[in-house]
Amino acid sequence: MATDRLLSSQPRGEDEQLNWALRPTELSQYVGQPVLIQRLRIAIEAAKGRGEPLEHLLLHGPPGLGKTTLAHVLAGEMGSKVIVTSGPALQRGTDLVASLTRLGPTDILFIDEIHRLPASVEEFIYPAMEDFRIDVMLDKGLSARTVQVRCKPFTLIGATTRAGLLTSPLRSRFGIAHHLTFYSADELLSILERSCTLLGIAGADQAALSCIAARSRGTPRIANRLLRRVRDFAQVKANGRVSRDIVDAALHLEGVDAMGLDDLDRAYLRCIGTTYQGGPVGLEAIAATLNEDAGTLEDVVEPYVLQIGFLARTKRGRALTSAGSEYLGLPARAAPASLFSDPAPSD
Ligand SMILES: Nc1ncnc2c1ncn2[C@@H]1O[C@H](COP(=O)(O)OP(=O)(O)OP(=O)(O)O)[C@@H](O)[C@H]1O
Ligand SMILES: [Mg+2]
Repeated sequence: MATDRLLSSQPRGEDEQLNWALRPTELSQYVGQPVLIQRLRIAIEAAKGRGEPLEHLLLHGPPGLGKTTLAHVLAGEMGSKVIVTSGPALQRGTDLVASLTRLGPTDILFIDEIHRLPASVEEFIYPAMEDFRIDVMLDKGLSARTVQVRCKPFTLIGATTRAGLLTSPLRSRFGIAHHLTFYSADELLSILERSCTLLGIAGADQAALSCIAARSRGTPRIANRLLRRVRDFAQVKANGRVSRDIVDAALHLEGVDAMGLDDLDRAYLRCIGTTYQGGPVGLEAIAATLNEDAGTLEDVVEPYVLQIGFLARTKRGRALTSAGSEYLGLPARAAPASLFSDPAPSD
């Protein structure tokens, strides 16, 4: 399954614990996302000055880019605690009440996968976000009455990989919404250098770390995971010395190529390139051919191949670009002019 991949940007139980050790704890240690960090520094200072909680914050973007990390960092900066929950875990309004009443002033409620919040819970969240109260319905029918439960002024941080699935009333209640972008190779390099220190990897040369950074698909979680695979390989094969050759050999063994693409990415691109002659083809058809879940492909494979320009998403489906064809060693096709535009109106 795709989530078992080494390159998967989804968390894997095995390494989540180690990830904790690698998580930045202060805003100054949080690498990258400069625009967001600047906005947040101002928001934090202003909120602290007024003695108010931070504005509700919506973070969206591909998995593994540091949304959960940022929620913890912000709690640290505000000197408050964070209660972590997720959309699928909140099944009834009362589940939310339990979390909200545990919050102290300026504390943070972090809801991961907020796009999976059931509609019935979403209704409870609106008054909580706006007026810090929850209306709980008691009894049914004629004897129904609502009781107001007040909660402390808190900050809701919502994280999602699918901002498009959020209802607009919910989305509009966030004071700050920000899309997290992929990290540059330099940013990943500084994350890796910090991780080396924390993991006690001595003597990793910069060329070796740059090589890992280049294959991490712009994602810190993947960078840290590859680093650990390389560390194991170096320990067994090279007395712990992490050099460029060791990185090459370790990642080659894991099926990760120089572009940072792995077997699933290549199968995905090849499916469009050969089975569907370069596309355009619908995501569902690709998923059926590969026997993969369409949502997984959309979340973990597509963002990066789109980013590096191997794939184009058009109104009529997914299509390989000429760079994508070249990567697969297929003859570059001249894309029909109509491919990237809407079909002409029929009247
Ligand atoms: N800006 C950063 N600086 C340093 N390390 C980072 C940064 N962002 C993320 N990391 C590292 O990447 C790991 C994954 O980050 P995190 O769990 O916050 O991702 P996420 O966006 O919440 O992913 P998901 O959508 O899967 O929940 C962290 O454990 C941390 O080590
Ligand atoms: Mg997370």
